[in-house]
Amino acid sequence: MFDLSDKIALITGASRGIGLAIAQQLAQAGAMVVCVSRTLSAVEKVAADMQAEGLKAEAFACDVSDIQTVDKLVKSLVGRHGRIDILVNNAGITRDTLLLRMSENDWDTVLNINLKGAFNCVKSVTRPMMKQRSGKIINISSIVGLIGNAGQVNYAASKAGIIGLTKAAAKELAARGITVNCIAPGYIETDMTTDLPEKNREMLLKQIPLGRIGKAKDIAVMVHFLASDEANYITGQTFTVDGGMVMN
Ligand SMILES: NC(=O)c1ccc[n+]([C@@H]2O[C@H](COP(=O)([O-])OP(=O)(O)OC[C@H]3O[C@@H](n4cnc5c(N)ncnc54)[C@H](OP(=O)(O)O)[C@@H]3O)[C@@H](O)[C@H]2O)c1
Repeated sequence: MFDLSDKIALITGASRGIGLAIAQQLAQAGAMVVCVSRTLSAVEKVAADMQAEGLKAEAFACDVSDIQTVDKLVKSLVGRHGRIDILVNNAGITRDTLLLRMSENDWDTVLNINLKGAFNCVKSVTRPMMKQRSGKIINISSIVGLIGNAGQVNYAASKAGIIGLTKAAAKELAARGITVNCIAPGYIETDMTTDLPEKNREMLLKQIPLGRIGKAKDIAVMVHFLASDEANYITGQTFTVDGGMVMN
């Protein structure tokens, strides 16, 4: 079940945290994972560690906010492997501050990476996936995109935007056999969340019915399912993986 043998998967933000767990999960299911982030040395180490375990992995530096770099990367990937089966838009950043203090640069930087970056990658893989008449696109949003969060106007807007992008792309691409889905993680233990003061962490824990902070693997297994043929009849959806914080 959920076999990904010989699938070609592009994972953005794969150098650490959730992206790294996704890359490992998909590679263990048999996929050839193309790991990208802005820091070449970090993704090269990720790919080398996986190769040492007998898994299939490649590494490239790419800033997802730059459409030309993304397009070049996807073209060379398709040139080498002949296809692209899975795209996971995971790269993301935060620049948190209250609305009144938020600079135009804080807004633009977060929107450019989190939302435009996802658009750039979706746009670049669409042509080859349409030709193949198959493909799985999985976008990583956040529960903050569903319920908002004080101090994160830029981040919340970018993550809500990803949900809209997912639904519109899912409708456009369904007839070509391409599914587009979204995962909205809750609070997951990664570098992005390590700075949270102990007091806030305790308050947050009280809001998680399952009583624990999430692990990157909790998100990776959901990506694995959505990337598999077993999920062929699911598109345009947003799945919260959050220990029950947000219940629809
Ligand atoms: N952790 C959570 O609680 C949580 C909750 C909800 C949603 N999420 C979302 O899940 C995703 C992963 O989060 P995380 O916690 O694993 O974050 P993280 O540990 O900070 O990792 C972020 C990854 O994105 C890469 N990245 C950042 N900007 C990039 C760019 N312009 N181009 C390409 N790669 C870029 C980083 O590598 P470089 O710096 O080398 O580029 C890194 O690999 C994000 O989209 C985040 O918003 C996280």
